[in-house]
Amino acid sequence: MVQDSLSASICTRIGVVTGGGDCPGLNAVIRAVVISALNRGWEVFGIEKGFEGLLHPERVHLLNTQDVRGIIYRGGTILGTTNRGNPFRLNITENGKTKQVDISADVVDAFHSLSLNALVVIGGDGTLTIANSLAKKGIPVIGVPKTIDNDLMATEMTFGFSTAVTTATDAIDKLHATAESHERVMIVEVMGRNAGWIALYSGVSGGGDVILIPEIPYKLEAIAEKLHDRWRRKRNFAIVVAAEGAREVGGELIYQDAIVQGESRRLGGIAEHLAIKLGQMTGYETRSLVLGHLQRGGQPTPADRLLATRFGAAAVRAIANGERNVMVAHQASSIITVPLESAIQERKLVPIDYDVIQSARELGISFGDEC
Ligand code: F6P
Repeated sequence: MVQDSLSASICTRIGVVTGGGDCPGLNAVIRAVVISALNRGWEVFGIEKGFEGLLHPERVHLLNTQDVRGIIYRGGTILGTTNRGNPFRLNITENGKTKQVDISADVVDAFHSLSLNALVVIGGDGTLTIANSLAKKGIPVIGVPKTIDNDLMATEMTFGFSTAVTTATDAIDKLHATAESHERVMIVEVMGRNAGWIALYSGVSGGGDVILIPEIPYKLEAIAEKLHDRWRRKRNFAIVVAAEGAREVGGELIYQDAIVQGESRRLGGIAEHLAIKLGQMTGYETRSLVLGHLQRGGQPTPADRLLATRFGAAAVRAIANGERNVMVAHQASSIITVPLESAIQERKLVPIDYDVIQSARELGISFGDEC
């Protein structure tokens, strides 16, 4: 606390920004950052719609307790966000033509001209990678890991994941009734990009029969055999939970869009692909459902609110303790800080020897890899 009060006199103005896709719990982080900073006598500026907001005075707001009142249970972000706001490669359109420009130096200058001492950046791998590059150009950054995908290696858990799993599990629960009534195979596609965390957790919690994750490529024959097995046992319906990044052994990922230079592609379409193939192979009536952005909306679960609050308060604590260019992380039940540079290096995939996978297999759940 001695160090804390010393740095309070040095560091009194901080910024907070949200970037990338929205995620349940963002508002809870913002609230925790604002309240714990104000309680130290600091000023907090909210930057709207990503880093570029620093360049627009009308998008930089001094936040007070009133601004964050009643937002802990609200989804989305009061600051707005974008996943097209990379200041090192910003798309601008002039005379009908789109080109990429590097406005990072302007962003750094704008940060300093606001006399800010640190920037709390709440984002996933993309946003934190940009934050790390801005840190190298002179913006002192504290990262807060956000993503429903739970795929950041440096933290055991990201906030937003619990809510996404809850939404997906709720959907699987509801699908059981209609699948059983019609004796159908229902295939539900969940998000997660190249990691299978949401599919695995919701599939097991929802009592799915087949779970397909990117980490375990599937064989159509193995899934069909699992379906026949259920029908043989007079369980004439099945729930297949497919991660959007799941793919067949030797097959390709399925995308919704074409390649556009400088932009990441959107996964999607695996459920309908499987519905067609499995329907043809087995003769069972098959339907697909894409949960999509529903998984990013709604009220954050208590687990996400708690983690988000701990992250927000820890980010401010890190600034108070003089730390810079670190990310707050959840490890071994505690919140710690890790160097930002190392935190963005690796994606966290589901280990194939994970006990949750083993338990699921022991309960008869198929991962589409074994007949
Ligand atoms: O990273 C979060 C996430 O929701 C992924 O699970 C999904 O693939 C992607 O973002 C969707 O992005 P967008 O909002 O751009 O469609």
